[in-house]
Amino acid sequence: MKKFLAILLVAMMALSALSFASAEAKTYKVGVSIYQFTDNFMTLYRNEIENYFKSLETDDVKYEIIMADGKNDMAEQTNQINNFITQGVDVIILNLVQTSSADALIDQIVANEIPLVLINREPLAYDAEGKTLDEAYEGILNNPKVCYVGADARQSGTFQGEMVAELENHGDINGDGKISYIMIEGDPENIDAQYRTEYSVKALTDAGYTVECLDDQVGNWDQTKGQELCANALTKYGNDVEVVFCNNDAMALGAATAIQTAGRTVGKDIYLLGVDALEEAVQLVKDGEMTGTVLNDHIGQSHAAVDVAVKLLNGEDIENYYWVDYVKVNKAYVDAQ
Ligand code: BGC
Repeated sequence: MKKFLAILLVAMMALSALSFASAEAKTYKVGVSIYQFTDNFMTLYRNEIENYFKSLETDDVKYEIIMADGKNDMAEQTNQINNFITQGVDVIILNLVQTSSADALIDQIVANEIPLVLINREPLAYDAEGKTLDEAYEGILNNPKVCYVGADARQSGTFQGEMVAELENHGDINGDGKISYIMIEGDPENIDAQYRTEYSVKALTDAGYTVECLDDQVGNWDQTKGQELCANALTKYGNDVEVVFCNNDAMALGAATAIQTAGRTVGKDIYLLGVDALEEAVQLVKDGEMTGTVLNDHIGQSHAAVDVAVKLLNGEDIENYYWVDYVKVNKAYVDAQ
């Protein structure tokens, strides 16, 4: 009987310790809105946001992630943010659908005193009057609880151009003294598209090379569209096309297919460049079917975004900008890995 009572006592103590511990555990609600779930790069990014939050959980702190698909529709995303506010989320991580109409949404989040981490689509791009970020948003990003985490796309564009300049023939396959290229651009709602387009070419002209743009089209970051645009350009300009610049790897994967179908050979009679370093693209670089890509570090960026979100939850001071570096990924780099 004594033994039974002792066991009962121990069991009761264990139970109350357990309920005490679980009463102590704090669960933070984190609202994450991604501009579009079908985006290859943002899929890697959002999965890593979830993984990394999970890895930071302790007995005392849990994170409930509410992950929403903006479906590339600003009205849909606005609804989601309203829902986040009603649900009382503790912090929001936001990948804007339309950077051009970010103000109202940011204002609303700030007015509800919810800390905000903007990712991947910097809301400066579409300020037509060329104001600074502070002027454009009346200092909203200087709010102590708002920040942007991203990578400076000028760097990725420059790396693309440099990888062409570093080739033995500097991209001038037919030796006519100019590099003739086509450009396949991402969705202009992301400044990355503009910067990559501009800086890939700038790296070549800055290095003293003459360039000729044969075609420049918007492929919206999309693989199928990239394939279609590249196929059309190859039909129209044939062997004149020496370099295919794609603002991201999804479109470059499409372009790689179009290049093969057209009977062209990367590294021999054409060059192909992307950005992101998606696994499939890195494999193509390894196999010589892509000239190069640029690592868009989704691990670094998602971790930086989560780390700063956690700081905000803890009431710590934050910076307004967090930048993550790109890395040049050509064959030499891949072979050395
Ligand atoms: C990536 C693209 C992606 C886009 C989404 C860019 O930084 O390079 O692959 O589609 O972000 O906004």
